[in-house]
Amino acid sequence: MKKLWGGRFQKSAEKWVDEFGASISFDQELVFEDLEGSLAHVTMLGKCGILTNEEAEQIKAGLNKLKEKVLNEELSFSTDQEDIHLNLEKHLIDEIGPVGGKLHTGRSRNDQVATDMHLYLKKQVSFIIELIEKFQEVILKKAEVHVETLAPGYTHLQRAQPISFGHHLMAYFWMLQRDKERFQEGIKRTDVSPLGSGALAGTTFPIDRKLTASLLNFSSVYENSMDAVSDRDFILEFLSASSIMMMHLSRLAEEMILWSSQEFQFIEMDDTFSTGSSIMPQKKNPDMAELIRGKTGRVYGNLFSLLTVLKGLPLAYNKDMQEDKEGMFDTVHTVIGSLKIFTGMIETMKVNEKRLHDAVHHDFSNATELADYLATKGIPFREAHEIVGKLVLHCIHNQCYLADLSMEDLKEASQVIEEDIYEVLSPFQAVKRRNSLGGTGFEQVKQQIKTGQQLI
Ligand code: ARG
Repeated sequence: MKKLWGGRFQKSAEKWVDEFGASISFDQELVFEDLEGSLAHVTMLGKCGILTNEEAEQIKAGLNKLKEKVLNEELSFSTDQEDIHLNLEKHLIDEIGPVGGKLHTGRSRNDQVATDMHLYLKKQVSFIIELIEKFQEVILKKAEVHVETLAPGYTHLQRAQPISFGHHLMAYFWMLQRDKERFQEGIKRTDVSPLGSGALAGTTFPIDRKLTASLLNFSSVYENSMDAVSDRDFILEFLSASSIMMMHLSRLAEEMILWSSQEFQFIEMDDTFSTGSSIMPQKKNPDMAELIRGKTGRVYGNLFSLLTVLKGLPLAYNKDMQEDKEGMFDTVHTVIGSLKIFTGMIETMKVNEKRLHDAVHHDFSNATELADYLATKGIPFREAHEIVGKLVLHCIHNQCYLADLSMEDLKEASQVIEEDIYEVLSPFQAVKRRNSLGGTGFEQVKQQIKTGQQLI
């Protein structure tokens, strides 16, 4: 098959070599962006008098026809034409004749592919931001219902202090808020047009880069043509924001897996987000959460793979850069899928309030309350810590909890303890009284939810 760039060649590569170099199997995902970029380019060529109006109109009609054919699934792509750019150019020429060959005037595949990627990512990241907000909304709703649901709070995965379950959920709201901001920030640097930079050095044609930028809704243009065709920072930023977000999702996934285990039983995942075992009839596995935890690995991998591809590249374009695509597409799909699944998973999960209530009432996570109580009565905190530690040990030996101790036992530990201690030891009070800014106290959690609601 004759190549669009075949002029200086005397021999053709074998098919398997062509296949190795081709990217069409994956870069066809850029088909609409490529057509959009070409439409803007040819409009500009016409306006600047580089092509006649008639030629520009003919090409535009041809491109629109191709778009229609893609939508009707009537266009096929082949490795003979290497990538999406050459495939479409070939189809254009087949569609409207040799005038189609004028489309590539003053353009290179290097600025073309960069333009496609910017357009693609800008669109996908906007969608991802919408999905994050939907997820945040679901978290807010769940948190609102569970402001006063008490749960054990952990450090070192050992029970530490009782918390509001809503507070725990809201922690993820704020992580996602930062993730969203990182994506929004990245859009700024994706929203820049490389089109018109040519292969690397610009072009001798009197093109208007600002016109194509505005036709494509880019806010600005790259200042340097060499930077424009070799910059992939915007993809790295996307992969890095995605990696951080997946790390957050993975932590939540891990908690959901733990919480839904027989050992915890804090939540039950809906059947629609769980799977069974092919051998053990009793099983209900949290596969979706596990998969998201697992897929986090591939997103990190995609970030590292592109960082590594780029690290030794001299300016400007190198074919290595074709390796920027699969990881980017894969990350887009993984992030979108994970956000959708998580939104459904949190929306439909059942919180086992009875189990949570039992958990916070049968442990020593109110020990800090007792120590704080002694401290407010003037005992140095270090001493108070020691007294309570001894009481905990006493309880462990006698198989009871702090609230089960008699006034006599308590007085023996410290004379300053009064009847009001029992109220202080209740987990409800322990949570309620943590009213410091951003603390787990109910008023603080409500305030947090209110602030959160204003952000989405
Ligand atoms: N398929 C190529 C890529 O994805 C397009 C740019 C090709 N440019 C070139 N000079 N070979 O990077």
